[in-house]
Amino acid sequence: MERSVDFYRAILRPLLFSGLKTDPEWLHQQTFQILNWLDVQTADPWRSWLVGQLDRTYGWHPDGWHPDRSSSPLQTPNLAQSIWGCHFSNPLGLAAGFDKDGLAAGLWGSFGFGFAELGTVTLHGQPGNPQPRLFRLLADQAVLNRMGFNNQGAAVLADRLAHHPHLQTAPRSFPLGINLGKSKITPLEEAADDYLGSFRLLKPYGQYFVVNVSSPNTPGLRSLQSVDQLEPIFQALQEENQQEKPLLVKIAPDLLDEDILAVVELAQRYHLAGMIATNTTIRREGLKTQTLEATGQPIAQEAGGISGVPVRQRSTDVIRLIHRHTQGQLPIIGVGGVFTAEDAWEKITAGASLIQTYTGWIYEGPGMVQRILQGLEQRLQENHLTAISQAIGLNA
Ligand code: FNR
Repeated sequence: MERSVDFYRAILRPLLFSGLKTDPEWLHQQTFQILNWLDVQTADPWRSWLVGQLDRTYGWHPDGWHPDRSSSPLQTPNLAQSIWGCHFSNPLGLAAGFDKDGLAAGLWGSFGFGFAELGTVTLHGQPGNPQPRLFRLLADQAVLNRMGFNNQGAAVLADRLAHHPHLQTAPRSFPLGINLGKSKITPLEEAADDYLGSFRLLKPYGQYFVVNVSSPNTPGLRSLQSVDQLEPIFQALQEENQQEKPLLVKIAPDLLDEDILAVVELAQRYHLAGMIATNTTIRREGLKTQTLEATGQPIAQEAGGISGVPVRQRSTDVIRLIHRHTQGQLPIIGVGGVFTAEDAWEKITAGASLIQTYTGWIYEGPGMVQRILQGLEQRLQENHLTAISQAIGLNA
């Protein structure tokens, strides 16, 4: 594994990011062409061989047979958990926004993730904002995006998941979350119906669902985080749901603490299953990048949300705030700036039951997942703990 990790960080990343200065969205699309081919092929013998290779190189095999881990299975601390009746083989998931249309839904386990969140998907398919809309801020180990929920729509995703050649047969040990957003054409006053429409179409295909009201790239969306606007959305979804599927809400890091706590209380009142903290930030303070190279504009004037290292600390603080306020009673998925095992450990010990990554994976490459999981096992051992669940909120 180490050889391929070094290859990504030492050669591939510098070549793609700094040498060739590839357009990030173009690179994302090229990657997805290959991943989608791998995901949907059934007959091609190359497919099984390649996916097998992926799985052997990057997959997480807690039985202890992986050559990079010398400890015996009995001594290895347990990273698996059961939450909301779902089995998570490890706590690290792929964050929303990477696989919006579920084009590689069956592959994420082979990259070592313990779960993946598809979407954001909206009731009506939509093209998103004009390009360019995705930028790397290399000096900050960050990304600026204003994609605007470009996606094919809830019906297309439902159809893709219903007819997926491998998901139907795969053991249900890899939870897929589905993140729902509001369509741009739907007025804010009709938001509840829009979320409900997507939920109805997708309900059979996700193991958990997320109400995303925290993207900065759909006009007015974040105003839905106010209690009076959020309440009808929770009400409509829970009425339809009848407590069948775990429903979570994803919040922005830019909310004031008191507003976060208001959302937490509403979530508890409507028996939501958890919270996701956090989405990208619209703050620009403290960035090393002053001018966006691709547009020549000052970063302060460029619209969009920033992810990666600049959002790390605030995201961890929000996790701690929620964990303390709920006394650990509401599971939290922590996301924002997870690049290393230390980042993951900080979020878990602050109160996150599960964690996710997007920007870290782009910067660190696919070997990052195993590095983080091995680092978590090591920290558990150092702290004389036998299961990851014992670490949640240790430092809250
Ligand atoms: C995102 N993120 C995101 N979140 C969401 O709920 N729905 C979405 O569609 C997207 N889209 C999206 C696109 C891009 C290009 C990025 C970088 C991010 C936010 C993401 O899921 C996560 O909350 C933040 O990026 C913080 O985590 P990282 O990236 O620092 O690990």
